[in-house]
Amino acid sequence: MLRWPIRDDIELRLPEEKDADELLEAIDRNRDRLEEWLHWAHSTHTREDVLSFVRMARKDFQKPDALHLLIFERGAIIGSCGMLLNEVNSFGEIGYWIDAECTGKGIVTDCCRALLDYGFGELRLNRVQIRCATGNARSAAIAKRLGFQHEGTHRQAIRTNDRLDDEECYGVLRSEWVKG
Ligand SMILES: CC(C)(COP(=O)(O)OP(=O)(O)OC[C@H]1O[C@@H](n2cnc3c(N)ncnc32)[C@H](O)[C@@H]1OP(=O)(O)O)[C@@H](O)C(=O)NCCC(=O)NCCS
Repeated sequence: MLRWPIRDDIELRLPEEKDADELLEAIDRNRDRLEEWLHWAHSTHTREDVLSFVRMARKDFQKPDALHLLIFERGAIIGSCGMLLNEVNSFGEIGYWIDAECTGKGIVTDCCRALLDYGFGELRLNRVQIRCATGNARSAAIAKRLGFQHEGTHRQAIRTNDRLDDEECYGVLRSEWVKG
């Protein structure tokens, strides 16, 4: 089992089928704020939906097409942080969410830092990006805190709730990450 220590009490782990019930509870606890920004939350309602995610995560990890990891605090699921991989174009794209109770502690920023080190180091990616809806200031703050550059705005490019919103794209290159 992949376990990735981030802090003394925080680790990233590849999801397992036994995590399904707890993960669904965490999603349900945060449903309103997740549905605001993450479209997948609208189609994740049952244990079977979560199991499909777990199976996809494990399959994608083998190829590897993506790292879909869960954030655990002292053994309890508090969110997710992952990176989709585009091998041909040598880039990764990071996504995340965390339980409302655990925001404001830099946990997600630290998880992203670990993914960036791994992506630029082990996977030799050339670039990593973060995309978020224009109104999602807390998500954009993570990219900025990590030294990503704002690269542009994609107009009406992201579905949030029932509307198409503008989307901000932030990126960092391997040369910048090594330097910074
Ligand atoms: C986006 C989201 C993950 C951001 O969570 P977050 O808690 O703000 O992010 P971090 O864990 O990196 O914490 C950063 C905060 O911790 C503070 N912090 C405390 N210790 C810190 C540390 N050691 N390192 C960095 N930041 C630290 C920062 O100052 C910042 O606080 P602020 O927001 O009051 O300025 C969260 O709001 C969320 O889950 N939103 C819903 C889902 C979502 O929008 N996902 C993204 C879609 S694109």
